[in-house]
Order: sequence, then C-alpha cells, then structure tokens
Amino acid sequence: MNPKILVARAVFPQTLALLEQHFEVTSNQDDVLWSPAQLTEQLQGKQGAFTTGSERINAGLLADCPELRICANMAVGYNNFDLEAMTAAGVLATNTPDVLTETTADFGFALIMATARRMAESERFLRAGLWNSWRYDMFAGSDVHGSTLGILGMGRIGQAIARRGALGFGMKVIYHNRSRLDAATELACGATLVSKQELLQQSDHLILVLPYSPEAHHAIGADELAQMKPTATLINIARGGIVDDAALAVALKQGTIAAAGLDVFEGEPRVYPDLLTLPNVVLTPHIASATLPTRLAMAQLAADNLIGYLVHGKALTPLNPQLVLA
Ligand code: GLV
Repeated sequence: MNPKILVARAVFPQTLALLEQHFEVTSNQDDVLWSPAQLTEQLQGKQGAFTTGSERINAGLLADCPELRICANMAVGYNNFDLEAMTAAGVLATNTPDVLTETTADFGFALIMATARRMAESERFLRAGLWNSWRYDMFAGSDVHGSTLGILGMGRIGQAIARRGALGFGMKVIYHNRSRLDAATELACGATLVSKQELLQQSDHLILVLPYSPEAHHAIGADELAQMKPTATLINIARGGIVDDAALAVALKQGTIAAAGLDVFEGEPRVYPDLLTLPNVVLTPHIASATLPTRLAMAQLAADNLIGYLVHGKALTPLNPQLVLA
C-alpha cells in the first residue's frame, strides 16, 4: 500500500498529480487555513506532509502525530518548523533552497528600486487624478546606481543581490553576516564585510536577507534605525519579526530614515496599521519568490523530497540530515 500524505495547502494540479502517482493523498485544494487542532486531525495516519510557512510543526503536534516521518516545506525559510522537536521525534524536515535564489534576489532589487524611486507613492498619486503639472522635485527619490548597498545576512540570496548591485548598478556593496564569505565569493559578489554598526551607518539602501531565529528577533529596532542615514531606505524580504514594525513606523513618520520596502511583516498577513497609512513605505504580500516557474520549481522540489524520502529513503534537501545518516 502506498504511504499516506497530507498536502496542507492548495498546490499546482501537476504537483498533486505527481504526488498521487506515489501516495495516497489527502489534499486541501480549497486552501482552507486549518487551526493547529485541525491540522493535527488531518495528519492522523499520514507519514508525510507537504507544508508551507503557514503550518506550524512543533512538539505538541508531533506528539499527536506519531506516524509522521517527513514534513516537506515549500519555502526556503522554515521558522514554522521546530527543527529540534522534529529531530527528537525522528521527523525529517526539508525546505526548497536554490530554486528560488535568483527570483527572490530580483524581487529584492525591485523593492529597492520601487522604494528609492517612490514608485508606489507616485502611482497612487497618479491614479488619484492628482497629477496636474510637472514640478522640479516631484517624487524626487534617491539614486540606486552608485550608492552603497548594505546586506544583512549573506547566504545565497544575499549574494545574488550583491552581484546585481555591484555588477549591474555599480554599487559599493557592504555586508554583515555571522561568518565571513571566502575571499573568492567576496570577490565574485563585489562585497566587503563590515560590522553591524558600520552597515547601519554607511548603507544608502539596507536589505535584510537573514533567516528568522530568536536571535534575529527585532535585529532592526529603534536603536538600529536611529543609526541609519536620514536618506536611507530599509528593505525587508527576510521574515516578519526581524524588524520591529512599530519602531519602523515611528522612524518613517519622524524622518529617521527616508523610506522602507516590506514584503514580510510581524504577524502577517496582518500589517501593523500605521504602516498602511504612511506614504513612504512600499508594501507587498510576501511574494518575493512568486514567479510561476519558481513556484513550480519549489513545489516540485518539495514533492521530490517526499517521494525521495518515503519511497527511496533519501530526501534531496534535508534540514536534519542526521536522521537520514543515522
Ligand atoms: C519564502 O518566504 C520562503 O521562505 O521561501
């Protein structure tokens, strides 16, 4: 008998069709957002789960789902997983790195451009019928080319953004990261390691690309914003909670920094209300990896992880590979 899996959110029909060749599949094509108790109930008797960032897999759920062997996240970030609890319960965790790197970097750059050049604000102005004449300083923003790009978190996506900045836009690229890149990678990215304080003080455009962890919680709060240039922009494509959104709203209102571009939010899909009223912030609904080819590739990789592990005993991108090696 084929293993049983749960696909916890709606997916591409072709992904579902592929999974159905290997598994007895329970799917959620109506895309109902289940409570933790409903998710636990749906997972009963399942060996695998195809998850997204909206499903929290923690010790409590795992204790109630003893047959579960793998959760394959369709995301590179996995802060919805309690990895330690999953490892302790013998449940493999997988994510979808690499396939979304360039698409996400494109979006990070789009948000830098839109924020620096005030694209959302000026579009709202035009749509409101307020454009009557040319004016010398109308929506004058800040330059991207030739400016200093700061990157906090320098993994695959950070490096792809650095290459765009250095090679495409002639930017000076500085970064801060837990560990230093090797010299060849630094050279390829045109990026220089600096302290967090230098990063805050020197960046014209500061982009956050670090994974969420308890240590990264509010890595950018009132103190950090106060160290930035009043002309600077802040871009968050990483995770909600890395920025203190309430402190950011105050900083944007008071002119501590010039503008922000946010694709992720604390407590999303809720957005801190003040951010919705401010003109100098570009807001997008967590879509940095959202191109059709990339979302298909992410879904395929998550499916391949389920098939690889439950059918062949080997996942492609495990987060707790010690379970496979054990
Ligand atoms: C999106 O946020 C992801 O982690 O893939």
